[in-house]
Amino acid sequence: SSKFHPTTLPITHNSIKVSIKATLPEEPDVVPLIVACAKKEFGDYQCNNAMSLWSKTKGKGTNFKGPQPIGQAIMQNLPTSDMIESCSIAGPGFVNVKLSKQWMAKRIQKMLKDGIDTWAPKLSVKRAIVDFSSPNIAKEMHVGHLRSTIIGDTLARMLEYCKVEVLRRNHVGDWGTQFGMLIEFLFEKFPSGEVNDQAIGDLEVFYKASKQRFDSDSDFKERAQQAVVSLQGGEEKYRKAWAQICEISRKGYEKVYQRLGVHLEEKGESFYNPYIPGTLDLLREKGLIEESEGAQVIFIEGKKIPLIVVKRDGGFNYASTDLAAMWYRLNVEKAEWIIYVTDVGQREHFEMFFTAAKRAGWLPIDESKYPKTSHVGFGLVLGDDGKRFRTRSTEVVKLVDLLDEAKTRCKAAIKEQEEARIKRGIVVDWTDEERDRTAEEVGYGAVKYADLKNNRLTNYTFNFDQMLNDKGNTAVYLLYAHARICSIIRKSGKHIEDLKKEGELILEKDEERKLGLHLLQFAEVVEEACTNLLPNVLCEYLYDLSEKFTGFYSECQVVGSAEETSRLLLCEATAVVMRKCFHLLGITPVYKI
Ligand code: ARG
Repeated sequence: SSKFHPTTLPITHNSIKVSIKATLPEEPDVVPLIVACAKKEFGDYQCNNAMSLWSKTKGKGTNFKGPQPIGQAIMQNLPTSDMIESCSIAGPGFVNVKLSKQWMAKRIQKMLKDGIDTWAPKLSVKRAIVDFSSPNIAKEMHVGHLRSTIIGDTLARMLEYCKVEVLRRNHVGDWGTQFGMLIEFLFEKFPSGEVNDQAIGDLEVFYKASKQRFDSDSDFKERAQQAVVSLQGGEEKYRKAWAQICEISRKGYEKVYQRLGVHLEEKGESFYNPYIPGTLDLLREKGLIEESEGAQVIFIEGKKIPLIVVKRDGGFNYASTDLAAMWYRLNVEKAEWIIYVTDVGQREHFEMFFTAAKRAGWLPIDESKYPKTSHVGFGLVLGDDGKRFRTRSTEVVKLVDLLDEAKTRCKAAIKEQEEARIKRGIVVDWTDEERDRTAEEVGYGAVKYADLKNNRLTNYTFNFDQMLNDKGNTAVYLLYAHARICSIIRKSGKHIEDLKKEGELILEKDEERKLGLHLLQFAEVVEEACTNLLPNVLCEYLYDLSEKFTGFYSECQVVGSAEETSRLLLCEATAVVMRKCFHLLGITPVYKI
């Protein structure tokens, strides 16, 4: 696997460029290859350009006799900087750079003064669309949609932090053939046309009942199919019934989004419907659409089955909608990067219509150029039995039930802890409201983190006991760690705002330096997570940060030591970066636990 080369680094790309230019003036456009050192005893960062420069220039009359002298020269030509403490050469010309402790400390202090937003990496994209959550109306949101919601929200948050304008799109399935059946069933149950939420009640139950009717009664089935035609033809009565069903569904989703603190803007499949004919005309003009077995299709090289864009009955489908949506997003909304978050099972669909868009000239063939599209696939949610997660053998797990259970379990844990404290004679002053809020923040945070910490492509096992454990790599553990840091600062009795203004941060001990370096690496980690669309990279960073803090705290006395001021500032910087990580992961930090 190729290593990620961030551009947001203490050792700037520019300084390396300057040095390479001085070393080999005949090689003007070299992309700096800089990574954090894997072996910390060599240095903090290393520049890996010498090897490839050697293979590019050897035999072309250069003065260098191998990669190592090139590395040597790059090192000597580095512009002098108070950022660098020392440099060395390893192996075939790797240039190792050790950062100056003074410089690192200053940079962290500056962040404390100016705010963590000044550490946001700069990305080359201005406007992006994140298409996520996107449940199907009238069907219950399930754990798959929970994954899409959690992953999509985090990606949007990370891009927003990098000052990308993000359009958060809920591409809800509100235009499928299921509506004929639902509308017909609605007319049957409420001939007067008077319906409200109470009348329909649980939409999922309603869906199941109408499906049963659809499968067992051929007359009904025929009427339902006719109803789709009437709806898509824009008949008033049908449009109204459709809108009512959508509205009830929407209210249900909104409750889940509110609980999760997720903001989304709905532009469902129906929105793009009017754009489909025009979009298909454009593709037809380019000669992309062909007739095949009565349907209209786009053949994609390397795929046996073509992409169907008009069904045999003349109707449009998921693919035609996605093509129209892409046209709209590129041309009306002017998005440079469109990110789609769905289960990996849909990879083929995305690959196919991305290829069609490239053939149409909508997207550049070169994927490093904009505009571009990315499919963010994720694996299944599994139960303890290793099978697809279900409550009972047949039923899908309801999202709200999961959130309820996470909260209930957290609340029980809080109560238990309180009782233990009371027994030890400690005064507990929690109000019920506080208990409730904390249980929600910790519980929902745990559900999110358990999902995000895995590489999204793998399946993950949903297990309450594991995710709510207060030890190990869990949100509960991390939230505790953060709250403890805050309480160290609070109990010192010092005003951190005063210390920020007047105090000085010094990274003297080894553990202080290690923690400081890790703090400085925040930006490059966010850049990697954004570029590769991998939230787990940020989770790893956060967990590592808490470990580095533990290392520091067990070696360095904070309160009451001669270095108290400096160390409190380091505590504060850790807490600030942790909070930013929580924020990017959609987790609300708690201060009192
Ligand atoms: N509604 C779809 C589903 O539940 C997801 C839609 C994803 N977005 C898209 N533009 N296709 O599987």
